[in-house]
Amino acid sequence: PTVSLLFFFLFSPADFSDGVLITQWPKYISSPPETSVEMHCYQNDTDYDYKYWYRQIRGEGLVLIGSYNFNSPSSEKGFETGFTMSGTETKKWTLTVDVKEGIDAVYLCAASLHSE
Ligand SMILES: *[C@@H]1O[C@H](CO)[C@@H](O)[C@H](O)[C@H]1NC(C)=O
Repeated sequence: PTVSLLFFFLFSPADFSDGVLITQWPKYISSPPETSVEMHCYQNDTDYDYKYWYRQIRGEGLVLIGSYNFNSPSSEKGFETGFTMSGTETKKWTLTVDVKEGIDAVYLCAASLHSE
């Protein structure tokens, strides 16, 4: 059977002057189709209530998968199924992806103070 590869990179908000630190793991993962994988992000500043997941397929631009704030996930068009956003605490958020062919991508998270 084919194996899909998902690559995760650290999103390092080096430009942020107030120094919120975001950690993303795992760095990469591979899993066969018909399974699901989880990726996580952690930020050390509780003020950053708005969380985001993006992905970038090779040769394409960055696309917003959805946002998550105050325990309420909001999926973008085209990501309503197969992508589940969750969070058990204010500082950590999780994206669960159903693995299928063509889903290989770089997945990135971000956090912000406002819904921009
Ligand atoms: C988060 O971590 C960064 C880098 O270590 C640090 O500069 C910042 O003060 C931390 N923020 C909080 C709220 O602890």
